[in-house]
Amino acid sequence: MFNIAIDGFVGSGKSTLSTEIAKRLNLKALDTGAIYRGIACYYLKLNLPNPNDEIINKFVSNLNVEIKFVENIQNVIVNGENFTNMLRDENTSMMASLISPYKMIRNKVRLLQQKFASENDCIIEGRDIGTDVLPNAQVKLFLTGNATIRAKRRFLQIKDKPNSPTYEEILEDLNLRDYRDTHREVAPLKPAKDAIIIDSTNMNLEEMINYCVDIIKSKMGKTK
Ligand code: DC
Repeated sequence: MFNIAIDGFVGSGKSTLSTEIAKRLNLKALDTGAIYRGIACYYLKLNLPNPNDEIINKFVSNLNVEIKFVENIQNVIVNGENFTNMLRDENTSMMASLISPYKMIRNKVRLLQQKFASENDCIIEGRDIGTDVLPNAQVKLFLTGNATIRAKRRFLQIKDKPNSPTYEEILEDLNLRDYRDTHREVAPLKPAKDAIIIDSTNMNLEEMINYCVDIIKSKMGKTK
């Protein structure tokens, strides 16, 4: 199978980029943040206290996560409940950031991701795909970009929604989540040694897509 790993910081454009590349190159796309988010929704639903090792161990021992594509939309089902519509809620984002550092959670999600990669020519985006989940991926891209610009883009996307956070709140949340992603003990966010680093600060989406598609096509030509 041909596997592409895209990792990067919060709001660096991974999801949009992966979806567009997948369309152009006829690949499947997997958003792994959505899996952590689905698990976070279930955690919130159970109304458990803030996570710690003991709570997480119990929680994971009774956790069943499924991914289904319905009309090309990735659905996340946890213990039979479809959480797809709640994945982007702000409290989901915060809880996903709190539970994702735990090894038991990451092991569970890693198996799901590796199974997907073994069955599909695909592009998988997340934080540890090139370093930990798919160390043998044929292409590894790492997206970075200035935090204030990432926060501004996010603010413009959601500013007209009811109860949307301010720009300052978005920036603070983004910095906090970046810090947690890069400083956790298990599979922290960092570029793989063989990753191509792409800085989205001064590139628009179309430029990023074209740049990445060219890189991927040249690698595909060599291996397919
Ligand atoms: O990319 P995102 O914002 O949807 O990710 C949600 C959370 O999940 C975020 O706090 C980081 C975490 N995550 C992770 O730890 N590893 C991944 N491969 C993907 C996401």
